[in-house]
Amino acid sequence: MIPHTLFFTFALLFAPSLAGSVQKGGACNQKNNKLLAGSYQFHSDCDSVTFCNSTNLCQLKGCRRDIFPFGYSESSHLPDLCPNDQFCPDEMDACQPLLPVGSPCQLNRDDQCAPPPNFKQLANPRFGMNNNGSVCLNFQCYWANVTANQPCVVENTAYTGYGADGQEFIDIVSRGNCMTGLYCDSQNLVCKQTLALGQSCAADKECDSMNCLGTQVCGTPADAPKHFPIFVYIVVCFGIFGGIFGTLIGLFFVHRRQRDTEREKRMQYWREQVEWSSSLREKRCTHVR
Ligand SMILES: *[C@@H]1O[C@H](CO)[C@@H](O)[C@H](O)[C@H]1NC(C)=O
Ligand SMILES: *[C@@H]1O[C@H](CO)[C@@H](O)[C@H](O)[C@H]1NC(C)=O
Ligand SMILES: *[C@@H]1O[C@H](CO)[C@@H](O)[C@H](O)[C@H]1NC(C)=O
Repeated sequence: MIPHTLFFTFALLFAPSLAGSVQKGGACNQKNNKLLAGSYQFHSDCDSVTFCNSTNLCQLKGCRRDIFPFGYSESSHLPDLCPNDQFCPDEMDACQPLLPVGSPCQLNRDDQCAPPPNFKQLANPRFGMNNNGSVCLNFQCYWANVTANQPCVVENTAYTGYGADGQEFIDIVSRGNCMTGLYCDSQNLVCKQTLALGQSCAADKECDSMNCLGTQVCGTPADAPKHFPIFVYIVVCFGIFGGIFGTLIGLFFVHRRQRDTEREKRMQYWREQVEWSSSLREKRCTHVR
């Protein structure tokens, strides 16, 4: 319904100012670790390369989540990425083993939960529905394995977005532990079939395309490529080839006219020369005689 990119652009733009400012070795308080209102970004007193350790001092981060993490200079040593069976928590202190189903996890960190045995069947990376079939809802690990009409768990998170005109809006992201092709209905708390294009909807999650338009009908996915009717391609082709051949033919006619005038000039010169030499010859003949 609402362009998520706007929110993420905001989060990226303002990330530098949101990190704490205490440098390595400085004093911090773990009690100040929190998720920021609106963006739910993790925040601590420490700057972007350190975390607040158990002795309440800022210590260099022990792991990273991004290939190109924010806040490091080009020459500085980056902490390691975690191996496949471990994750780097929001604090980024150290890699930890994946958590079994039912364990506490951090907001939106589906990747902290261990995958179910049938993860290949349950995995749905589209729109970040789950990670390898596991999903973190209300700070607890679940498997996204609930079938139609069975009870499910739902988590609604209200993010603050900022429109192009700087106006604030609320974007509610609703997630559940239903299987692919289903969504968790917030009223009845059961899994329901997602809706096809053009059906009437009340929230993004209800649509197959994850895009409930302002008119309350399911629209095409927000990332769908734009398709043009075939005649547009034909017109463009005609334009390109018409332009090329039009230029060639136009130049041919311009050059032909130039060639004709040049030839006419040479013919005239030649005629004059012939007349000139023949009149000279006549004069010479009369002299000789
Ligand atoms: C906390 O960080 C400080 C400064 O980086 C370090 O000297 C200290 O050993 C760390 N404490 C623990 C328990 O690792
Ligand atoms: C899914 O699980 C498999 C096996 O544990 C692992 O190799 C793969 O990297 C995981 N994929 C993601 C996106 O976590
Ligand atoms: C579905 O996932 C839950 C955990 O979220 C698990 O306890 C349950 O056994 C799973 N059911 C099936 C049929 O795999």
